[in-house]
Amino acid sequence: MKEIVHEMFSEEQVAERIAQLAGQINEKYREEPLHLICILRGSVFFFTELAKRLTMPVTIDFMAASSYEDGTVSTGKLEIRKDLDDPIEGRHCLIVEDIVDTGKTLCMVKKMLQARNPASLEICALLDKPSRREAEIETEYIGYEVPDQFIVGYGLDYAQKYRNLPYIGVLEFEE
Ligand code: IMP
Ligand code: MG
Repeated sequence: MKEIVHEMFSEEQVAERIAQLAGQINEKYREEPLHLICILRGSVFFFTELAKRLTMPVTIDFMAASSYEDGTVSTGKLEIRKDLDDPIEGRHCLIVEDIVDTGKTLCMVKKMLQARNPASLEICALLDKPSRREAEIETEYIGYEVPDQFIVGYGLDYAQKYRNLPYIGVLEFEE
């Protein structure tokens, strides 16, 4: 089967949207130092673009969590493959994620990090697929709401491919 990617949001549109999100976050935190938590691997591209536009003192850390194996279907398995390097107790933290789908990944990550007593813990996701939600999760900053389609590009993958596309697209299969 042939894989075809249709552009949904252009590189320019995404850049503009990320600048708006950064504006919201700058407005909220002002001069307060912010600790950014990147959920690997999907949010890497979004994470760096967002971080560059924040104006408060920023620190960064990385965590790898997974609920998806290869393919487009959730395995229902949640796994922390890499934990944060630094403690977050007493720090204002912002989790940066690529997409909220069922919400299970973020739910688990948030619960785990909340137990470490950060001063605050908010979530910023580039994409949100509300129609697929199974776990209740509050997200403070969202780039775009998307329909129930399989999204690739700008960090998001299908079987580890397409992460490097500079735009956000929908993956379709043709005979
Ligand atoms: P959740 O736990 O179901 O919310 O899954 C979130 C994770 O699944 C995301 O961080 C993505 O890695 C992956 N995912 C969910 N939907 C898509 C999609 O449309 N394209 C690519 N990855 C997706
Ligand atoms: Mg992910």
